[in-house]
Amino acid sequence: MSITQQPPTGEPAPDAAQEAPHDRIAADALTTRRDYLRIVATVSGGLAAGGIGVAAGILHRHGDNEGAPEPKMIAESLAPGESLAFRYPGEDDRAVAVRLMDGTLVGYSAVCTHLACAVLWRADRGPEGELLCPCHEGVFDIRTGEVTAGPPPRPLPRVILDQDADGGVWALATVRSGENDRDAWCRQFAEREPEQAALLECPGYGARGTGTGEEA
Ligand code: FES
Repeated sequence: MSITQQPPTGEPAPDAAQEAPHDRIAADALTTRRDYLRIVATVSGGLAAGGIGVAAGILHRHGDNEGAPEPKMIAESLAPGESLAFRYPGEDDRAVAVRLMDGTLVGYSAVCTHLACAVLWRADRGPEGELLCPCHEGVFDIRTGEVTAGPPPRPLPRVILDQDADGGVWALATVRSGENDRDAWCRQFAEREPEQAALLECPGYGARGTGTGEEA
């Protein structure tokens, strides 16, 4: 199960209700990431070949950030069946968030992996809707971002979303096309959370690492 598929969080504990929204979502997200990544650390992810444009450095690649992106509130709420265009992690990174009818939140880069046209949410296509690139009829699965039709060579990069106790929707991190969740976490959060990075054996952070990044 993806982080983006976590059910909405419940009511905050009385003391948590006193925290600032930013602090609360950061704490919630950290717990979610830790729990989730303990699982995905044992699962290898497949790597897809990079597109020619990206490989040549011609196109801006979504999630080119190496450090930890700041959590960003993208909506005060998002109802089932609604979608939202936003930018994350940078102002050049176009993205789309969708709340599926069962409550699942999903987020993706809105830049097609074929020739970088804008990807659109189409609720009227397929049983749950689809992400469509109208330039060459590229289609991406709404739950995974995998290519289901057309010429795009790679899945859409994902944006990890979560919801705070007040219903606010936050963007927390990115997962590049073809990147597994562990590598995505290491790329963005290892320096900030060295103990967790050691548990996940991120490059430069051994299992007995001290967080200096010099163990490997
Ligand atoms: S640019 Fe999206 S399918 Fe060609």
